[in-house]
Amino acid sequence: MSVNNKRASAILGSPFPKSTSEKIVELVLQRLRDNSWETDVIDLSKIDAESLLIRNEDEKLDKVLKSVVQSDLIITASPTYRATYTGLLKVFLDLLPQESLSEKLVLPIQTGGSSDHSLTIEHGITPVMRSLGATVLTNTIYAWSSQFKEDGSPSPGIIELINNSVKELDFLLN
Ligand SMILES: Cc1cc2nc3c(=O)[nH]c(=O)nc-3n(C[C@H](O)[C@H](O)[C@H](O)COP(=O)(O)O)c2cc1C
Repeated sequence: MSVNNKRASAILGSPFPKSTSEKIVELVLQRLRDNSWETDVIDLSKIDAESLLIRNEDEKLDKVLKSVVQSDLIITASPTYRATYTGLLKVFLDLLPQESLSEKLVLPIQTGGSSDHSLTIEHGITPVMRSLGATVLTNTIYAWSSQFKEDGSPSPGIIELINNSVKELDFLLN
């Protein structure tokens, strides 16, 4: 990949730290940093819930929203909850202004307990991101628990999905 001076923001939508979706995010971000991307991680579990529900003014949250809309690539990462992405991620996305992601690329990453809901990216997060004007990659990443080895590292199948996403990014940006 030969892209320079691009910025990627990863939004972690798990309510818990050290989620498997975060592990995949880290692998993707490392690939981007190796190619001179600036990267940023937004952990929604660390943002005040009252602010996310618009009950408080929160300058920190405003800054986070601004940094997302100023990114070239937005990575959404979430476990599958009830056949879709988490409510935590949804309340954050609801704060983004209309069309604020036009001309932005989005790479959805989602994990699940099994492969049963592997199409959820197509009917869950993808239309939501498109409603904000974003271009969602074709090569999204869905992984499930048994694809992680005992030591927590990802199987070759997950690495292949990451390779495909990075290849598509390279194609779209060059
Ligand atoms: C409230 C809740 C709902 C879940 N619903 C689903 C589901 O509908 N489909 C599925 O494949 N996994 C489901 N899971 C399992 C998680 O998606 C799975 O454990 C997760 O991807 C592992 O990610 P983590 O490391 O972030 O916990 C659910 C888990 C929780 C806690």
